[in-house]
Amino acid sequence: MKRILSGVQPSGKPHVGNYLGAIRQHIEMQKDYECFLFIADLHALTTVRDAELMRKQSYELAVAYLALGLDPKKTAFFKQSSLPEHAELCWIFDCITKMPFIERAHAWKDAQAKGKKEVTVGLFNYPVLMSADILLYQPDLVPVGKDQKQHVEIARDIATNFNQTFGETFKLPDAFIKEDVAVVPGTDGQKMSKSYGNTIDLFGTDAELKKQVMGIITDSTPLEEPKNPETCNVFKLYKLFADKKEIQELAAKYKAGGMGYGDAKKTLLSKLMEYFADARTKYNELLPKKDYVYGILEDGAKRAKKVAANTLETAKKKIGYI
Ligand code: ADP
Ligand code: TRP
Repeated sequence: MKRILSGVQPSGKPHVGNYLGAIRQHIEMQKDYECFLFIADLHALTTVRDAELMRKQSYELAVAYLALGLDPKKTAFFKQSSLPEHAELCWIFDCITKMPFIERAHAWKDAQAKGKKEVTVGLFNYPVLMSADILLYQPDLVPVGKDQKQHVEIARDIATNFNQTFGETFKLPDAFIKEDVAVVPGTDGQKMSKSYGNTIDLFGTDAELKKQVMGIITDSTPLEEPKNPETCNVFKLYKLFADKKEIQELAAKYKAGGMGYGDAKKTLLSKLMEYFADARTKYNELLPKKDYVYGILEDGAKRAKKVAANTLETAKKKIGYI
């Protein structure tokens, strides 16, 4: 069975973009692959600087995955910070990776372009830690969003460099990117992202969800007039969740005129409520069950450790540490 590995940062509340772009693939792939999935809390320290928030966001992300269908028997699910192997292999890679190579990575280039003098060494080094995250598990595929493709390529280059320097150790993984949901639009039509404040959150209260959906930006075509569904943010989101017949029906209402955007938003809201109903119920049931959820993460960490420690030991032998 082929192996996949992925990580998700606990950097905020999970939203519809995260679900379609990442979470859903992770859950669907459980049936065909041996899976490793971690909460990337080492990476999150580049932005989260509050202990309670770090704990809360990591925990809620774990609950979100479980509520959405992660099966802890099939997937080794764990917190990155539980395994020191990630940071240790990162240091090894740091010592064989040239600065200019990482200077080309987009996280650093974006930060520089914004004139950020405050960029930390951790953010600069992010692609090297991500390479360690990946290569420790010798995965075949790394399911990620399009924005992470470059990081998987960096991991391949670092693996090649290590293998050439010290001898064959790491398998070269491929990024796995689902093209059709590469970019989910947010409530303002830009890419949905925590950093743009345009999200529809998966596990907000009913009132919060309603507020986000009713706040989707639309044009000012009057109620009576026909409207173009293809350019409407409400319709673009509806298409991602409705079936063919439902999509055709709503498109027909747009084109006929006489339907206001408020009605389209209500249709979208009830679709989202229906689509995520089970997950939302499960989320609220699991949220107070801390021992159960932390137990799953600890068990996952034990299973992950077997693989990670083994790879690290091989690398250390090749280097001459042991
Ligand atoms: P955000 O932009 O909200 O901070 P992250 O960068 O934490 O989201 O992304 C977590 C995962 O979700 C990544 O794999 C990313 O590619 C995916 N993702 C985030 N936003 C979207 C979106 N709007 N459409 C598709 N995938 C997305
Ligand atoms: N950088 C990824 C993101 O922001 C999260 C991540 C960290 C990751 N390490 C990883 C993803 C290893 C895949 C594999 O979305």
